[in-house]
Amino acid sequence: MRTSILLFLLLALAVTSQATCTNDKNPSIRSLTDKTYSYGEEIATPIHLLRPKSGLAGRKVPQTDCLSWRLAVETNNIRDWHLVPMSCEQYVGHYILGKQYKDDCDAVADAAIEYAKSIKLGGKGKEIWVFDIDETTLSNLPYYARSDVQFGALPYNDTKFNEWVATGKAPAIPAILRLYKTLLTLGIKPVFLSGTKEVYQQVRVDNLHKVGYYNWEKLILKGKNEKGSAVEYKSSKRTELVEAGYIIVGNIGDQWSDLLGTNVGARTFKVPDPLYFIG
Ligand SMILES: *[C@@H]1O[C@H](CO)[C@@H](O)[C@H](O)[C@H]1NC(C)=O
Repeated sequence: MRTSILLFLLLALAVTSQATCTNDKNPSIRSLTDKTYSYGEEIATPIHLLRPKSGLAGRKVPQTDCLSWRLAVETNNIRDWHLVPMSCEQYVGHYILGKQYKDDCDAVADAAIEYAKSIKLGGKGKEIWVFDIDETTLSNLPYYARSDVQFGALPYNDTKFNEWVATGKAPAIPAILRLYKTLLTLGIKPVFLSGTKEVYQQVRVDNLHKVGYYNWEKLILKGKNEKGSAVEYKSSKRTELVEAGYIIVGNIGDQWSDLLGTNVGARTFKVPDPLYFIG
């Protein structure tokens, strides 16, 4: 619980450090720092707790650097990174297992649903929505939370990861499942496009079915002969879809490589992922 409060405060700091400085001379606001506040109260209140907790605008709190790192990762400013910094392993763990990650995913899904509801369909059933799978449709958190993985702070092991995929036990990300179900009711057809190897086709289909994804226009996995980067692979598959007459109205993924390249779709949505980078 204390960690949740700290994370919340750090997020508040990122948004409002400017306001905190200008309120410095206001004694009535300062007195608020004597009180304690629970997680989830209005943002205007806990801001003023930051000064005594963090000092020097948070520079003495190591997690602040981890928040900056995560923000830079999410905005594609830091690229081609191989590991979560070991000093941020706990921070990333608390973020991804905690309320903030869930809230962040909900915010993405809410925006995507609002957009999807505004789309006027052509009536020919050609509108599709591209979903990435790992850390978008399905979550590998049970794997990433393991002590021999440490939320991506330890080097990636392909053998181990594939053993986990083969168990078919990845849960859904609830916010994205909600988006998926809404799209079906709107008549927008889901297409799954994943870098998972084709040999895992059956286990992935079973896994998707088991957690509530029961219907899709296409499921595209990576063939043995696919070469090139994730951006190239996904771009070429999306181009094939467009050439087949589909209209990509939306595209959602946890990696920028899902959302960059050609035929990315009318709108893209980034799901948070501070666990790993795929270029
Ligand atoms: C990767 O994981 C496999 C299976 O657990 C293990 O046998 C192998 O030694 C690991 N490789 C490295 C480099 O740690």
